[in-house]
Amino acid sequence: MTQFDELARRYDDTAELPWRKHMEMPTVLGVLGDLAEAAVLELGCGSGVYARAVRGRGAARVVAVDESEGMIAHAKARERDEQLGIEYLCGPLPGAEKGNFDLVLAVYVLPYATTVQELTALCETTFAALRPQGRFVALPIHPQWSDETDYYLRYGFQLTSDQPREDGGPVTLTIRSGDSEVSVTARYWSAATLEEVLRTAGFGSVEWRQHSVSPAAMAEYGEEYWHNYLARPHAAILDCQK
Ligand SMILES: C[S@@+](CC[C@H](N)C(=O)[O-])C[C@H]1O[C@@H](n2cnc3c(N)ncnc32)[C@H](O)[C@@H]1O
Repeated sequence: MTQFDELARRYDDTAELPWRKHMEMPTVLGVLGDLAEAAVLELGCGSGVYARAVRGRGAARVVAVDESEGMIAHAKARERDEQLGIEYLCGPLPGAEKGNFDLVLAVYVLPYATTVQELTALCETTFAALRPQGRFVALPIHPQWSDETDYYLRYGFQLTSDQPREDGGPVTLTIRSGDSEVSVTARYWSAATLEEVLRTAGFGSVEWRQHSVSPAAMAEYGEEYWHNYLARPHAAILDCQK
């Protein structure tokens, strides 16, 4: 049982929130670029939001893994209806898949490593899954996230911590929708630790990418809506090359 088992529907719904739909997803898919013919592994796929998007972008093979049985059951149920050809797996990536992927994507997964050892193991698994010159794109908690309680409320969530900002420190993510709310515990990892762990795992380059908002989304929601997120994003985008 994991803290995510009951949250699959909730995570599907977050994909419709304006900041995910009009900023995070277009930015991440833009960073990924052309996926035609690519073999993609999504690590920590949750309800399958990105697995479906990546498949829709023409990836030749999409394998999506998650340790949460509830998330994978939901993603597989959607796959049965939609028949997109995505392979969902609950649990660790089988050893036979080592070296099979051009790209590994991990959206909001590194924050759930609770120790440096777990973080390192995740990055090593990723490195081993990639072909030579493969890429790893990951969204950890941004080193400059705001800990003001309501800073991200307009986006449908809060991110709070009552502890000093240090490696492995717990951060509470509360997703709010109407009167309902649900919280999960994530972990903060500093930029220095993330870079060190990724380089130790073997990645030759680690670049930080910026979120951006299209002119159309800026006009639709207004500058005031986007200001807080763009000034202090809650997630960073790491683009690593094997
Ligand atoms: C915050 S959710 C994000 C889900 C999805 N990536 C998205 O963007 O909607 C984090 C997911 O990562 C999964 N997860 C965390 N650590 C993992 C690990 N070591 N291996 C596989 N899945 C993991 C959790 O079970 C959860 O479904």
